[in-house]
Parts: sequence; structure tokens; C-alpha cells
Amino acid sequence: MTKYVGAIDQGTTSSRFIVFDRKGEIISLAQKEHEQIYPKPGWVEHDATEIWRNTTAVIGEALRKAGLTASDLVAVGITNQRETTLLWDRHTGVPLYNALVWQDTRVDQLVAGLEREGGKDRLRAKTGLPLASYFSGLKLKWILDNVPGAREKAEAGDAIFGNMDTWIVWNLTGGPDGGLHITDVTNASRTQLMNIETLEWDDEILDLFDIPKAALPKIVSSSEVYGEAKGVLAGVPVAGILGDQQAALVGQACFKPGEAKNTYGTGCFTLINTGDKPFPSNYGLITTVAYKLGDAPTVYALEGSIAITGALVQWLRDNLGIIEKSSDIEQLARSVPDNGDVYFVPAFSGLYAPHWKESARGVICGLTRFANKGQIARAALEATAYQTREVLEAMEKDSKIAIKELRTDGGMVANELLMQFQSDILDVPVVRPKVTETTALGAAYAAGLATGYWKSTDDLVHNWGVDKRWHPNMPATERERLFSSWNKAVTRSLDWVE
Ligand code: G3P
Repeated sequence: MTKYVGAIDQGTTSSRFIVFDRKGEIISLAQKEHEQIYPKPGWVEHDATEIWRNTTAVIGEALRKAGLTASDLVAVGITNQRETTLLWDRHTGVPLYNALVWQDTRVDQLVAGLEREGGKDRLRAKTGLPLASYFSGLKLKWILDNVPGAREKAEAGDAIFGNMDTWIVWNLTGGPDGGLHITDVTNASRTQLMNIETLEWDDEILDLFDIPKAALPKIVSSSEVYGEAKGVLAGVPVAGILGDQQAALVGQACFKPGEAKNTYGTGCFTLINTGDKPFPSNYGLITTVAYKLGDAPTVYALEGSIAITGALVQWLRDNLGIIEKSSDIEQLARSVPDNGDVYFVPAFSGLYAPHWKESARGVICGLTRFANKGQIARAALEATAYQTREVLEAMEKDSKIAIKELRTDGGMVANELLMQFQSDILDVPVVRPKVTETTALGAAYAAGLATGYWKSTDDLVHNWGVDKRWHPNMPATERERLFSSWNKAVTRSLDWVE
């Protein structure tokens, strides 16, 4: 009987379950959105209980749709929104507080304090990361310091920490009834608590942030059989975990140093494989673990993280109401011939790479009476492409590798206008693969490799194929005029918050 591999993709806006076959093709998919909770400006939370409930619902739905049962799966992998931080009671499974989402900026004053003492890059050598509100360590500190009883429970080992990978695996493998408390190296590398060379929790940083080790999960590789699922996937080996952007790198089969991908989701995250040594950044990127497949050497990546891209389209839909559904943005943007000199810097969570400015806020520049919603839509799409160019330029300077073409994936790659503009503004070809669900695919690959469903990464390279390629088609003078206006707009967004 034909067997498949399943992947849980717990993202920022939704949770999905996708079943893949050996060619990496989708057999079944189900998806459910969860609520975005904004209690104050800059605060973003998720109800982790809702997320787990949705996860079990989409697993059931995807299996049902294809007439499958858990026994048709040889393994399940997990991929997830990274950095989103949760503390829960290990005896009841009840979270002590909502999950603090990666975009949440409530720890910006903690960041500023630590920065004043020792500089923004004081933890870079150990963790690969600048100080920023983005990563989980300080978010966990906020929960421990602000939620009554949290610190005592964490110190006693009664409350445990995890990112969404850990929360999902713990629940999937039994929850209070023996659930595994683990995280993979890629997720751990985003906490700012792990040493990226030793792959262990760093005692000095735990001291600095005042975080009890008893609350932290065990760090494991990205691809091995961790245990067996219970409940809705009873008996299926849980065999892969990768943060979603690292999963996309694997799903895009970027296994050689120099191969890069850009995922266009809530934010945009460009990763370039840099091989088996951490590669320090001097130009505002971060050094991160790309994957560790079982006992094989750890592979690292340089990453350009951009907080807001697709989320800006959702904002135009939900907060301004100028489009009904996200996909309408393309038509609205096409209703005008160009941006009419309007630029939109969506620094809603400050600016991440390459600026790392907590104090930046969103701005729309260049408005005249002439501007209309078509130009706002166009400026929003173009913002994605300009931000990608900023991180690619940093990547080329850091790695000294000229990126010859960019592999893309994620929801926004259906937008042809954006893909052409991206190629124009980068002046390199942009490629969309046949399977654009690369995040879930990467997690499935990690799980399938651990269980022998796929023999080696060569099988995965073989599965990868091109759907469409866009070639640059813009005069250089025009490209540079647009990008220099974008840079001017960025300077207007910086240091808005004192
Ligand atoms: O670092 C945040 C990232 O993992 C979120 O990804 O695709 O859920 O927006 P996504």
C-alpha cells in the first residue's frame, strides 16, 4: 500500500496539515486561521490552546479529505512560526499566558537597557543574533517577570517553555501524559539562549536574562525519530522539526553553500546556505542554524529577516478595507501604471534586517492629491521587493557570493506583478518552484529522511522543479531611482519612537 509523510505547519496566521507523497507532491491539505490578538500598540499574542485545537482539526480534515488514516503515514514532521514564546503548566497543559508572537515589541525597553550596557551585538559571537525584541529569550523573561507565579513555577520545573514546535510536539506526544519536551536546533537558535557552536543552552546568557534552565526543552537534531504520536496521529513516528524558514530552505533543496531562497509569508525571510561553520555577519544579517540531519554535521545559514510583507497586504485588507481579500491586491496595484512616487515602509514591529531598529515605525511617503488606493497598493507590494533587495545586498557583502538567481516560495509568489518587480529591482532572475508549499515540504523531508522514506538529500534535489522564471526587464537608471527613493523613505521611518 502507498505510504505518505505528513507535515504540521504551525504558522503566524494559520495552522496547516499537508500530506506529501514520495515525489514531494501534495496529496491533501487542510488549513485553519487563528485569532491575532493585539492588546496594545506593539503587542501581538496568540491563544496557544486555540492553535493546538486547530492543529488537531486540520490533521483530521486533511486525512479525511484523502480517505487516509494515521496508519497511511510513515512519519510526521513539524514546522512552525519561530520565536513565538509560550510558558505552560506541565501537569495540566494550560498556558500561563497567551503566546507572545515573534512580532511583539513589548520587550523593547529591556533590549534598550541591555544595549546601553554592552552594545547591540554583545551576544552575536555566541548566538549569531543582535539584541532585538524579535527573539524568544527576552519574551520569556517578560512572562517570568510579569505573570504572577510564573517564575516560581518555572524554577520548580512545573511550568515549561517552548516555541510553537515544542508546544505542538509536547501535545502531539501525550501532553501532561508523558509528552516530549524538546526543540530542534533551528528553533533553539532563535531563542538567543543557545550557543550556536556547541548547540547547548548558554549558562551566562541564562544568568543575564534570569531564566531558569529547568523550564527549557531538550535540544535535539532536526531529523530523527523523537517518539510516537498519540491521539489523532496515534502510532505515527514524530521524526522531524524545523523552524519554518529553515524548513523552506530544505523544501527548496538548497543543500549546497551559496544556494538561497526567499519565503514571502507574513514577513519575508531570505536564507543562504553557508555550509558547516557559522558565518558571522557584518552587514546586519543574522547567523542561524539551517538544519542538522541526525548525526550529520550542523549546517548554518545567513538570514535576512523582514518582519512585514504579506502582513502589510492583510493590513490593507483588515485595517483600511481597500481590498476584500489578499489576492485582490494585484488587480488594485495594476490599476495604476506605477507607484506615483508613493513609498510605504511597513515598520510595524520596528525594522529588522539589515537595520535592527526597534524605534522605527511605519510611514507612507510622497503623498500628493494625485495619490490613490492603487498607488498605496503598489507601494505596499513594492515594499516587499525593496526590503528583499536590502537583505540580498547585505548577503552578497557578507558572503562575497553573488546571488545568481533567487528561489521563491510562500503565499505571495502567486502575485505575478510582485515577482516581475522583484526580478527588476534585484536585477537577477526570480524562480518559482513547482511545489510552493516548501515550508511543510521541508518538515516532511526531515521526517521522511529520518525514517528512510527518502534515502538521501539527492532524492530531494531530484524532486525540485521549476514552475516559472522571471527575468529582469527594467533600465538600470529606473531601478536605481526607485531604490534610492525607497532608501530615503526608510530614513523617515527610523527613530520614530524615542
Ligand atoms: O521568524 C518568524 C517566522 O518564522 C514566521 O514565519 O511564515 O509564519 O510568517 P511565517
